[in-house]
Amino acid sequence: MRIGIVGAGMIGGTLARLFVGAGHEVTVSNSRGPATLRQMVEELGPRAHAATVDQAARFGEVVVLAVPWRTPQALPPAELLQGKVVVDAMNPYAEGGGMVELGESTSSEETRKRLPGARLVKAFNTIWYQHLGTRGRTDLPLDERHAVFVAGDDDEAKATVSRLIQEIGFAPIDTGGLRDGGRRQQPGTPLYNRILTGAEARALVNAAEG
Ligand SMILES: NC(=O)c1ccc[n+]([C@@H]2O[C@H](COP(=O)([O-])OP(=O)(O)OC[C@H]3O[C@@H](n4cnc5c(N)ncnc54)[C@H](OP(=O)(O)O)[C@@H]3O)[C@@H](O)[C@H]2O)c1
Repeated sequence: MRIGIVGAGMIGGTLARLFVGAGHEVTVSNSRGPATLRQMVEELGPRAHAATVDQAARFGEVVVLAVPWRTPQALPPAELLQGKVVVDAMNPYAEGGGMVELGESTSSEETRKRLPGARLVKAFNTIWYQHLGTRGRTDLPLDERHAVFVAGDDDEAKATVSRLIQEIGFAPIDTGGLRDGGRRQQPGTPLYNRILTGAEARALVNAAEG
């Protein structure tokens, strides 16, 4: 699969390495331009490329958003993501700490408003990048793997992202649609930044769904 990554820091850079390791073709991008990513892609090998944000968006069949949520100018133009599976890994941290006040809304619903036409899936936002980088285990059954949560309203897009999660050694756990599932995945919830197996995570989600 061709995967575009917007934001090649702790979470985007870790995902790039894992996706390349699983055999995918990856294009990474950041705010400073492709020249600053040369060393990263050299280390990742021939399946990794560095490009601008717009090029990474065009390249990806799946596009991962791994930039600060509070800087919408970091996102590619919505027209480049029309019909694409787009993964929102972002959390709404404010500049200098704390959370952006969103009232009744959630950060991924706001992302969807910014990117109409994208097939948005909220994923990877609950897992600390060091756990993501080290805890994937393709040798374990799903119930025993570290859980990675997914939320979204497009079942096919969610299935695509869930397959990618499995391929890099984690257990995808569906929390529901973008609104309610996305809310379950927010910072401060029982699912956020916890070490949970697939079986434990599913039990927690089922209990939350009541
Ligand atoms: N760190 C984690 O463990 C973790 C876990 C789950 C979710 N997240 C979420 O993932 C997102 C990224 O976090 P991170 O920890 O990976 O941050 P990070 O290491 O600071 O990386 C941020 C990336 O976004 C890029 N960026 C910033 N402004 C940009 C712009 N205007 N245009 C294009 N790219 C821009 C940066 O590019 P430059 O380097 O060129 O500035 C950098 O590549 C956040 O929304 C965070 O909440 C983080």
